[in-house]
Amino acid sequence: CGIVGYIGHREAYPILIKGLQRLEYRGYDSAGIALFDGENTHLSKTKGKVEDLKKKAEISIPTSGKLGIGHTRWATHGVPNDVNSHPHYSNSGDLVIIHNGIIENYDAIKQALIKRGYTFESDTDTEVLVNLIEEIKKKEGVKLGKAVQIALNQVVGAYAIAVFDRNKPDEIVVAKLGSPLAIGIGENEYFIASDASPFIEYTNNAVYLEDEEMAIVRIGKEIKLRKIKDDAIAYPNILELQLNLEEIEKGGYDHFMLKEIYEQPRAILDTYRGRLLADKGIIKMAGIDQNLEKFLNANRIIIVACGTSWHAGLVAEYIFEDLARIPVEVEYASEFRYRNPVITEKDVLIAISQSGETADTLAAIKLAKEKGAFVFGVCNVVGSSIARETQAGAYTHAGPEIGVASTKAFTTQITVLTLIALKLAYEKGTLSQSKYHEYLAELEGIPAKVEKTLLSNPVVEEISYIYKESPNCLYLGRGYNFPVALEGALKLKEISYIHAEGYPAAEMKHGPIALIDEQMPVVVIATKKGHYEKVVSNIQEIKSRKGRIIAIVTEGDQSVKELADHVIEVPETSESLSPLLTTIPLQLLSYHIAVMRGCNVDQPRNLAKSVTVE
Ligand code: G6P
Repeated sequence: CGIVGYIGHREAYPILIKGLQRLEYRGYDSAGIALFDGENTHLSKTKGKVEDLKKKAEISIPTSGKLGIGHTRWATHGVPNDVNSHPHYSNSGDLVIIHNGIIENYDAIKQALIKRGYTFESDTDTEVLVNLIEEIKKKEGVKLGKAVQIALNQVVGAYAIAVFDRNKPDEIVVAKLGSPLAIGIGENEYFIASDASPFIEYTNNAVYLEDEEMAIVRIGKEIKLRKIKDDAIAYPNILELQLNLEEIEKGGYDHFMLKEIYEQPRAILDTYRGRLLADKGIIKMAGIDQNLEKFLNANRIIIVACGTSWHAGLVAEYIFEDLARIPVEVEYASEFRYRNPVITEKDVLIAISQSGETADTLAAIKLAKEKGAFVFGVCNVVGSSIARETQAGAYTHAGPEIGVASTKAFTTQITVLTLIALKLAYEKGTLSQSKYHEYLAELEGIPAKVEKTLLSNPVVEEISYIYKESPNCLYLGRGYNFPVALEGALKLKEISYIHAEGYPAAEMKHGPIALIDEQMPVVVIATKKGHYEKVVSNIQEIKSRKGRIIAIVTEGDQSVKELADHVIEVPETSESLSPLLTTIPLQLLSYHIAVMRGCNVDQPRNLAKSVTVE
């Protein structure tokens, strides 16, 4: 979910609506706002997108007022409908709240409140929380901030909340545990949001709450931070943000996803800029340099991540083992954290996350730290929870990724991980000098090759047209390109709702081959380096079962061209770097198919970009 709030001298409504639109990547099955007009609070909420909310609010409530909060939801408790949307009132109507997260013990609290006469309109855990706050406030005779604090000490779960009282409309109380919360500090005004994008055109100064911190933002006063548990005062660390507005707008592209696909040459360059000094034969990465011994003495590297980031982790497994000869295990964060894993102080854990907020990844990090492992983060969002929780790290510097289907985050994660692997290979001496220098030069040339790969867009679009109605699709790859096959299939599933599966090409004969008939499109990554002949044999196997073959090949390849129904060419590169190129046409394929099917590319159904619940 995404939350936003404003208190100050401007009209809150346009700030909230625009802010919610920027936060829609966090969830978009329902939305709502509450505005205080100087006397009363007015609430409007609806199932659907922020655009639907806008239409509804403008005809149903007065949209003036200088204090307000808003929410865009990804349902956890209760189906997405108008009633379950946030904000939620307390029973008296005095308090109004927005909440991102889950209150796990909500049912016990709810039953207790019902016994004491409270009633509930919605099925949400959030309505339980706001009534708990209200009850404490009344019973204990305390101010809102204190009541919030007492209530939060009774709940188990995760939250980023903002709540205000119509009887005291000069303040908003906010708190965070697990879900992100940023406060933008303007002149005599404050902004509250799940990330800085809603307020970036108003101020560059922001405070990110730490877990278990709360703040009272009050007009005319400096922010007061407190620890929720013991009431200790915390001092706000005011950051100067680097984000600019251009980066979070579409810039002429039809969709964020397409813009982000096309940004990849630039994003990859930004990722290695200042780190890769190919002519000097050096890789400079502070997070690695300062912890080199930990990496060099590690028994193994464990990589944890979710979704697309997990696929980047799989590519990294090949690179680390191949180049630096360090054993690697790649784990879904959600599985790792719950299976009592064997972790020792000699392990290095690398957590990969675009958003830096994924709840399962964050929990895996905490577990590994408890067991004494050294934890390194690869994140895109600067200052995110994972970036702060890890002991060292490297940012991907891809710039904001807004499309829910991850694209440039994936290729930049691979770039960072490649840099790390090469650096460790150099330090360990597992690569010959000449090979090492070759890799550096090759990596430096990747942005230009990605640029060239993007020229295949019209071909990919034509192919997309032919297969846009297929109900299924199979993706095959070997070695470094097996994770790319997984990622290609995930992209198609996510945004076009076509069932797709990625498989190691050789495993096809142990199952998926049964699915192949003349209806089945099979995307095969068949670049020249790395098991080329083996993949060609797999293509033969598909062909003899009349499957339709879309092959990703190295420029100039003739043999596969003769066998495949369609080929998409990518420039030649080393096998280790090939995922950075072979991924591109797969991103474009899913993009075009989704557009042709009339799907909402940037906001596919049921998904959210940042999953801050387990
Ligand atoms: C969600 C997104 C995916 C993303 C995954 C992990 O499911 O929709 O695109 O890969 O979370 O997110 P992270 O921010 O940790 O990389």
